[in-house]
Amino acid sequence: MAISEHDHFNMTRSPWGEMVIAACRSGTALAEQVADAVRQSASDQRGDVALNFSGDIDFQFSDSESCVRLNVEVAGRDAFLFQALYDPLSERSIDENYIAFLLGVRALREYGASRVTGILPYLAYSRQDKPTLAQREPTSAKLLADLALTAGINRLITLQPHTGAIHGFYGTTPVTVLGIVPLFVDHYQAFRQRDDVIVVAPDAGAAKWVEHFSTLLDLPVALAAKLRPRPEQAVISDILGDFTGKRVAIVLDDIISSGGTVYELARKLIQEKGITEIHIGVAHNLCNETAIGRLASLYDEGYLQHVLVTDSIPQTAAFTAQPYVEVHPLAATLQPLIDRIHHNRL
Ligand code: R5P
Repeated sequence: MAISEHDHFNMTRSPWGEMVIAACRSGTALAEQVADAVRQSASDQRGDVALNFSGDIDFQFSDSESCVRLNVEVAGRDAFLFQALYDPLSERSIDENYIAFLLGVRALREYGASRVTGILPYLAYSRQDKPTLAQREPTSAKLLADLALTAGINRLITLQPHTGAIHGFYGTTPVTVLGIVPLFVDHYQAFRQRDDVIVVAPDAGAAKWVEHFSTLLDLPVALAAKLRPRPEQAVISDILGDFTGKRVAIVLDDIISSGGTVYELARKLIQEKGITEIHIGVAHNLCNETAIGRLASLYDEGYLQHVLVTDSIPQTAAFTAQPYVEVHPLAATLQPLIDRIHHNRL
């Protein structure tokens, strides 16, 4: 359905006023899909939502400063602001996209939105979640949270952030975290209770939720020990688990960046644990060229069967053209969530 700026349906009123779906440039594609789903749901239920849409709200001046312009009235309305902080389909950096998001939040506040919910499916910077004393790196994730709060967000929605501590970074401002486990449980149902299958967590950070996934599918779990001798270099030193009779591995992680983690883990599973078939599921894929090369080599050798990712980050054609790739669209998950928030049912 085409997006128009102002659509009205008949439905119960929200105490927060009409809905505004706004998006910075990198978030506009997903926001359009969610707006379509909101309209569809309202018309299916013969319900009522007054939806105002404002996409591509940011631009840059020639000196590279970002600026935001809202092209719809937002006063007294319930605003949902979408941004893809990392966007490999554009030249814009994470930092530029973060600034655009902050300016968007500020604009919505200054022009009187009754509430501003930020929707950042991929929460960039969340890997920098603690000070690393040896190298004197800061807790950058906390600073970025402070900036979003200062800009004026009232709520944040995100998907499987790298750290569960993210709630604490936003203080009393609610953070709605969509976990990736329900999607993976749906997707990997056919593997339930299979004797030849084992689930593998690539590092201690993923251990808890990957173990939860394995319990839900009644499968055994193994845990890899990962070291990072240098930034973006992964070494898998050991894999703890009982691989007796196991042939198939489901490897789950929150992010594929350089692909080093899943690649090194796959190699060790093949060489030392007798695994011959690998399925990979991740919440966020950064579409890094090196990662595509690494995954393609595992596929060409006949080990990699399938990679499941979401569109939390806009996916490049180079990645989606790979025969083993499936991209799960998030719009159908975000629409009911936004609807519940809009109607104070969450
Ligand atoms: C970090 O600990 C994350 O959970 C991922 O394992 C990591 O970001 C993946 O990065 P890469 O693909 O570069 O190994």
